[in-house]
Amino acid sequence: MPIAITRGISPRFADCELTHQIRVPIDLLQAEREHAAYADALRGLGLQVIELPASTELPDCVFVEDAAVALPECAVITRPGAASRRPETEAVATALKPWRALLHIEAPGTLDGGDVLVLGKRILVGAGGRSNAEGIAQLGRLLAPWHYSVEAVPLRGCLHLKSAVTRVGEDTLLLNPEWVDAALFAGWRCIAVDPTEPDAANALLTGDRLVYARHHVRTRERLQDASMEPVLVDAGEVAKAEGAVTCCSIICDTA
Ligand code: GLY
Repeated sequence: MPIAITRGISPRFADCELTHQIRVPIDLLQAEREHAAYADALRGLGLQVIELPASTELPDCVFVEDAAVALPECAVITRPGAASRRPETEAVATALKPWRALLHIEAPGTLDGGDVLVLGKRILVGAGGRSNAEGIAQLGRLLAPWHYSVEAVPLRGCLHLKSAVTRVGEDTLLLNPEWVDAALFAGWRCIAVDPTEPDAANALLTGDRLVYARHHVRTRERLQDASMEPVLVDAGEVAKAEGAVTCCSIICDTA
């Protein structure tokens, strides 16, 4: 059974990092309700959810995706670009240790898991924001033994590469062409977000099922037009913290 590592909502969630968005009030209780329903949705898709306790010290701790890149062969523990987020990796590394050999990004490298898009053996990393050239180069060296290629991708207007593009099927990507160059994805079927929903490119693919934020109504219609029927979750509160559905879990296949 595949596992999903998640972590609770910090009581200090309202003090989260923000890069492109304006701070608006976060409803902590609603965030907790949404996060519990997200875990239920993952369980409903057959995942074993390992829920780590929230940290009272780490406002962004719910966004576990940024702390590690889990691959079939290993997991790379990151060094997040925002200094406030670096202590988040410790609990995630402890949770991953029974499942994967751990490798580490070291200073002065920085890497956020949200910047790392894995497309088979091709890995694209959003560069210039949270993930720096040294971190991306280290990722390439760490993964070379398994023949992954790692390439830096310029980003504009968004926090992470997976704010701009995610995989939604065997040969299909969902992307915002204003934030990432669609020409990088030759050979892929690309679905563009509705232009009124710029932050709608983040969908969580697990097996052949998609988890998707309910509020992206118009882009969801585009997915449905492409014969995809996502499992919908409320993700309005994490969106206020510049988070989305992939950010809130690390999924590992277990043999
Ligand atoms: N609030 C999510 C982040 O900035 O990392």
